[in-house]
Amino acid sequence: MAGGDDGTKMKTRYYSIGNVKEGEELLQEAAKYIRCGETVAIPTETVYGLAADGLNEKACARIFEAKERPADNPLILHIADIASVDELVIDVTPQHRTLMEALWPGPLTLIFKCSDLVPKAVTAGGDTVAIRFPSHPIARRFIEICGTPLAAPSANQSGRPSPTNASDVLADMDGRICAILDGGPCEIGLESTVLDMTVSPAKILRPGYYTMEDLSRYLKVELDENLLDTKALPRSPGQKYRHYAPKAEYTVYTGSKENVVAALKAAREEYKKKGKKVGLLVFNEDASNFPEEEVLTLGSYDDEKTMGRLLFAKLREFDRRGVDVILGVGVESVGYGTALMNRIVKATEGRIVEV
Ligand code: TXA
Ligand code: MG
Repeated sequence: MAGGDDGTKMKTRYYSIGNVKEGEELLQEAAKYIRCGETVAIPTETVYGLAADGLNEKACARIFEAKERPADNPLILHIADIASVDELVIDVTPQHRTLMEALWPGPLTLIFKCSDLVPKAVTAGGDTVAIRFPSHPIARRFIEICGTPLAAPSANQSGRPSPTNASDVLADMDGRICAILDGGPCEIGLESTVLDMTVSPAKILRPGYYTMEDLSRYLKVELDENLLDTKALPRSPGQKYRHYAPKAEYTVYTGSKENVVAALKAAREEYKKKGKKVGLLVFNEDASNFPEEEVLTLGSYDDEKTMGRLLFAKLREFDRRGVDVILGVGVESVGYGTALMNRIVKATEGRIVEV
């Protein structure tokens, strides 16, 4: 349990930042914790991150402790200008340059061969480092003020859905971290695309906002085979752990709209007969089929970006409502749908039913 040395919980300070200009003084204050080797949760455009000084081994160890994260899962270093990459890596290739200049700042994490400056806690003992330049103005300004790369995994307890707003961070981390910067809800809601550029062709280890099609405009990329074959050995340590899972048993149905609604209705009846409390996580257009139920919506059928923004928050909302079972909808695994279904496969622990 992270907290005081005597085993007590630490007090988590809450800073409502609003915008960067008005929040400057609070950001300066919170940066002091990073300088002391403490942890601070920060908003980014993807999900909230749990940040610590990425060049301080002990500070990074605090992240693992607070999240109860397995030590062999490496961290992403967050920077606030492209030039910061140079001291952290030994191989900025022309392809790295092209992507950094075209898509940073933004929801893209690139993997490089790391320099000696990067602590073992960040690389999990490997010879590569993941780096991201977030576009969120609060994240950018905070990194600048801290004056050091910030190691920051998603700010959830290991295995839980990533938090996309400050109260979801506090639900997992209150009393375990030093402070939280509330910058409102995250715009994207799914974690960054992780691209391994130490191999040729480059490999997408985690699909995200930038799709295979987006990246293929700049270089040859492949989707890591582990993302397609669930039995293959993990290349990115993050691939092997239980992830994004709500407490309830979550099952997703895919297929034609009519078949999916029929399957949801049938499954709902089965579970209700067993005395289970059922939640439905569906598109706006489906909601009227389940008037008397616990229903939450993910936006419209044709709006995958909204689905991505809402998915994790709604899974957490069902946990708060104490449902036993979540029955939900999926999308086709193409384009941005690849990132959505990647998270859904993990959150459902593979319970995807084609109907
Ligand atoms: O959008 C994001 O990327 C968020 C925000 C906070 O920036 N961060 C995030 O961090 O999702 P995390 O730690 O939850 O996920 C990082 C993923 C993990 O799957 C990890 O295994 C992988 O990136 N990763 C980190 N360093 C790596 C490396 N050197 N080689 C391969 N995979 C790496
Ligand atoms: Mg994570």
